[in-house]
Parts: sequence; C-alpha cells; structure tokens
Amino acid sequence: MKVVILNDAAAVAAYGADIFSKQLKQKPNSVLGLATGSTPIALYQELIARNKSNKLSFAQARSFNLDEYWGLAEDHPQSYRHFMNINLFDHIDIDKTNTQVPPGNAKDPRAACEQYERDIINAGGIDVQLLGIGRNGHIGFNEPSSSLASRTRIKTLTKETTDDNSRFFAAGEFQPQLSVTTGIGTILESKKIVLLATGASKAEAIKACVEGPITASCPASALQMHQDAVIIIDEAAATQLSDIDFYKHIEAENQKLEKMLEALE
Ligand code: GLP
Repeated sequence: MKVVILNDAAAVAAYGADIFSKQLKQKPNSVLGLATGSTPIALYQELIARNKSNKLSFAQARSFNLDEYWGLAEDHPQSYRHFMNINLFDHIDIDKTNTQVPPGNAKDPRAACEQYERDIINAGGIDVQLLGIGRNGHIGFNEPSSSLASRTRIKTLTKETTDDNSRFFAAGEFQPQLSVTTGIGTILESKKIVLLATGASKAEAIKACVEGPITASCPASALQMHQDAVIIIDEAAATQLSDIDFYKHIEAENQKLEKMLEALE
C-alpha cells in the first residue's frame, strides 16, 4: 500500500488525475472504476479540463461506478447516475453507452447484481478503480461488517452514512436506506486502486485503513491486501497516522525512481 501525503485537496485531485491520465494514455480503451461523493469532484474537474484542452480523451474508455442508491430512478437528482452525468460524463468525450452505474431500481435485484459483475468481467476487468472513504471506513457502500469477499449486492446503509449524506436531500424528501454496491471482493480484483481522502473528518478512517488490522470493521483496510493500491490524502486526513515521515520518505524515493524510469522510455 502506497501512502501519498500532499499539502491540500487540490494537490490530491491533481495527483489522482495524473494517474488516470497516464492510464488512459497507455491504454485508451481502459476500463475505469468511478466513485461519487464530494471528494472526487475536484479530480473530475481536473479530468474535464484536460479533456477540454485535448490533452486527454475518454472516447475509447468504459466505466463502471461503484454504487447507487436503491430505489431512486436514474434521473432522480440524488441518484449517482445523475451525479456522474453532471459532474463528469456530460463534460467529456466518453460515449455514455459505455458508462455503467449499478442498477438502482431493477425488477430482479439479485439477477441485476450478478449481471453487473459479469459486465465488469466481460469488459476485461477494471484497470483503475477510484475510491473515496466514509468516516466509518466504508468503500463504495460496503459498510462496516461487509464481507471482505463480498460481490455486487444490496446493502443496508448505516445511520452514520445516511446522516452524512442527508445534506444532499431536502427536508422531508425520501432518502434511501438501501444501496446497491460492488463488493469488497469486486473492488480488490481491480488492477490498480486509487483512494482519495481529504479533511480532518477522514483522519480516523485513514488511520484504520492504513495502519489498523485488516478487518471487516473497516472495509477500506482490505486494501492492504491489494498489490497496487495508492492512498492519496491531504495533511488534514493524515494527522492520525503514526508513520507520516516514513510515508513521505518512500514517496520522495518513488518520485526519483519514476523519473529514472521515465527517462528510459
Ligand atoms: C458515499 C459513497 C462513497 C464515498 C463516501 C464519502 O457514501 N457511497 O463511495 O466514498 O460517500 O463521500 P465524501 O467524499 O462526500 O466524503
């Protein structure tokens, strides 16, 4: 697990965008795993800017989103499909028919979840998966106690998560208690994983993710088992880590190595 600690949220977004840019340049028909939440918005804005200035194309890319609310229509303003359209897809050259979000209102949820897993496999698997993290350590909507081997399924949200996300819903508006999310097992099959976290409210979850034991109590801790996971955080989200200096030292050495390898290309 690589831990990258940067000054602020803007630097986190730029670092994450560089990973996606590099991936798409190396493999224009990459399969991208995408996430919602406030954290990735700055990264999406960076990708949009690079697309608009013709530095980056999504024309051949495919995407699969991590999760969706269960019970909201696709065009509902709080649906994650709508979020992705307005925050990314509407502004880049991706073919929207190549973008998938888990089915939030399928007639047969179990069959639809199985189909989503098959669709990912048929697309060749996810090349790079973007993740945020909940304050309780959730990834996607895999709440604490989710099986570390879980697959796409319906998942009940914790009170903490519905409280955190209530800011997006008007008073009295229906807010789903259920979600459909790819599983931790699904996420771990991605070839590369990029988790972003910014702000002091994520410091405890990042501590548990990076330095805690691997446990279903902190779903993000499962990333410790992945061979290519990078945790990109700002100083505020890093405050509870014990080995900050060591992570910074590793990153400085990695940067030197990267430059050396780039010179060989
Ligand atoms: C939601 C999403 C997660 C996201 C989390 C954190 O619950 N399902 O994928 O990581 O929110 O969101 P934020 O970035 O807004 O803190």
